[in-house]
Amino acid sequence: MRAIQFDRYGAPDVLHVAERPVPEPGPGQVRIAVEAVSVGHAQTQMRREVFPAPMWKPEFPVVLGGDVVGRISAVGPDVTGLNPGDRVGAFTLYGAYAEQVVVDAATVVPVPEELDAAEAAVLPGTGLIALGILRTGQLAKDETVLVHAAAGGVGHIAVQLARAAGAGRIIGTAGEPAKREFARAVGADAVVDHRSPHWAEEVRELTEGRGPDLILDGVGAEVLQQGVRLLAPGGRLVFYGSSGGELEIPRVSVMDLIGIKYVTGFALSAWRLGRPHEYAAGVAELTRLLAEGQVKSAVHARLPLERAAEAHTLLEARAQLGRVVLIP
Ligand SMILES: NC(=O)c1ccc[n+]([C@@H]2O[C@H](COP(=O)([O-])OP(=O)(O)OC[C@H]3O[C@@H](n4cnc5c(N)ncnc54)[C@H](OP(=O)(O)O)[C@@H]3O)[C@@H](O)[C@H]2O)c1
Repeated sequence: MRAIQFDRYGAPDVLHVAERPVPEPGPGQVRIAVEAVSVGHAQTQMRREVFPAPMWKPEFPVVLGGDVVGRISAVGPDVTGLNPGDRVGAFTLYGAYAEQVVVDAATVVPVPEELDAAEAAVLPGTGLIALGILRTGQLAKDETVLVHAAAGGVGHIAVQLARAAGAGRIIGTAGEPAKREFARAVGADAVVDHRSPHWAEEVRELTEGRGPDLILDGVGAEVLQQGVRLLAPGGRLVFYGSSGGELEIPRVSVMDLIGIKYVTGFALSAWRLGRPHEYAAGVAELTRLLAEGQVKSAVHARLPLERAAEAHTLLEARAQLGRVVLIP
């Protein structure tokens, strides 16, 4: 089968097409014939060797993972409830830039037949992260939420979900004017540019000096530190990624929390394993919202698998509105 792999860290052009054997599922695993895989910012960090998570310990050659949607093509021993032909999705660290990928059956979610594969390729990871960070941040009706990178993969879904959950005001951050326009189009009431040195002041003004009740932060670094200071009394900040911080782990002083502020982290795997009932309810809810069209997944570009390097270049230029998707 065809796959995209890399044999050394580096620029997007280290990604190249390779012929690999079709992988066989082991106990507790299934194999998926890939219809679409969406490319996340984290994978560009993995390729550049700046991904800050401890579970990333690859051996070369590496085939990257992502949100994958397709049909089960083989089922390993000990797997129940999943059958060849089922349309499913999974969020995987490795192996998805390929025609076939093996994943843990426990991470598989059902994907409705009527959903377009590229659009559905936010369901298993990106969309669930957006829902999980809102749940973890306990967004209440009428509260003000600040969504960083609101035009990005996770961000544009989080804006829509916050709206569906009854947020009072949604403020986004985004870089280019086209991204700010897009973030407004998906439901943000106001959008500021977090590359501006005055972004926090702008958010403070937009909240009449009070600050947001909830901040969803996948950017990290200085943005996170300013966010903690910006939170309203009783406010929560959920940290879930470091797109702006690379290997720099942001530090928070407890002194910054004495205004009754809460800072927590989120990882999808921790949500699935640590709060399985909430996770399962989240999967069902997101699937319904996508199937009913209440939440729309924006596909910025659909590229054939062999153009994976171009997909990474797009993400590194911070040019994407929503998601970039590879089609094998
Ligand atoms: N916790 C989890 O389980 C989990 C799992 C997977 C991924 N993640 C994280 O979720 C976050 C969002 O992922 P995504 O794939 O949806 O990415 P994305 O939001 O589509 O892209 C990242 C965005 O971050 C913004 N950004 C701010 N500072 C940046 C910088 N210095 N360099 C590059 N970008 C910068 C850019 O938006 P602007 O140009 O608008 O500023 C960029 O487009 C990432 O941090 C990722 O690592 C978390």
